[in-house]
Amino acid sequence: MMLKRVGIIGLGEYLPERVLTNADLEKMVETSDEWITTRTGIKERRLRDKGEAASDLAIRAASSALEDAHLEPRDIDLVIVATITADMPFPSVSSILQGALQIPRAACFDISAACAGFVYAITTAQQFIAGGDYKNALVVGAETLSAVTDWQDRDTCVLFGDGAGAAVVSEVRSGGILSACLGADGSKGSLLMIPAGGSRQPASHQTVDQRGHFIKMQGNKLFKLAVTLMTGAAQDALKKAGLECKDIDLVIPHQANMRIIMAMAKKLNLPQEKIYLNIEKYGNMSSASTATALCEAVKESRVKKGDIVLLDAFGAGLVWGACVIEW
Ligand code: UT7
Repeated sequence: MMLKRVGIIGLGEYLPERVLTNADLEKMVETSDEWITTRTGIKERRLRDKGEAASDLAIRAASSALEDAHLEPRDIDLVIVATITADMPFPSVSSILQGALQIPRAACFDISAACAGFVYAITTAQQFIAGGDYKNALVVGAETLSAVTDWQDRDTCVLFGDGAGAAVVSEVRSGGILSACLGADGSKGSLLMIPAGGSRQPASHQTVDQRGHFIKMQGNKLFKLAVTLMTGAAQDALKKAGLECKDIDLVIPHQANMRIIMAMAKKLNLPQEKIYLNIEKYGNMSSASTATALCEAVKESRVKKGDIVLLDAFGAGLVWGACVIEW
């Protein structure tokens, strides 16, 4: 039982300007626009400028979310950034963001929950605020996946993009987050990983030669798990909120693959018009996918006051999370 109603009072996003199309990829690896479009739903993705880090994207998305919430940096007392492509091992992206936006004294930490990171971060912020010790949380999903993508590997390089989305999470008078279900299956972590660069395999000439600092993925195995686990997470979150699939007005799914999303929608018996997609424009941006999709859905008036919105995500870990929000 939550002590307070907690919801999202402002949203923002930032997508780098540089566009990489499927036609561009055809010149880089043995692939085709036709294969990428039919197998994934992706047409193009955004790429950061060289030297641009996750915090640079986060700062712009967060500033716009603050403006949308009509809050000043001094109003924020908690900063959470979901990312798997931090600027550096430490300090955290949230600390860098707090410093850049001159948010005085706010608690800062990053969350590593890959593509489910934004759902994990929103849920974490909700708990902090419902507990009563914090008032306004700045929650960001920010990724520069192009920095860890192997541009020689056609299995993965066609999938990912860069971007950031942000939300301000606060106490609300009505609606808000009705339920959240987070979960993980750590036994399957090897299906999606960056093997080197941490304490297991610190950076060395050998790890660079072996291309160990790039994303390694067993896509086919993940595909089936993604459908099952995202469907299960949605059902669990709905049940916890006392709702059914028919009550959902809009689903904001993680944008890993159009076919995963449609298979999940079919299992949940949800029509296509109730699913929000931005995968065609941006590809898979890990934690930034659900964050930007929610922001764009609201901007486009696909979400109205009183609507029931389901955030549903799945990613490396393996982790998953779903969250039901009354807008
Ligand atoms: O973000 C959360 C975690 N990630 C995911 O959930 C991703 C889940 N997986 C996927 O989205 C899909 O599995 C992929 C898009 C990665 C791959 O699609 P698929 O339908 O599962 O293809 P596949 O891996 O079974 O490969 C089919 C064929 C293979 O050729 P053969 O062995 O049949 O001759 C691949 O070599 O497609 C080939 N292929 C490509 N062909 C052209 C793989 N990548 C490409 C490519 N262009 N880029």
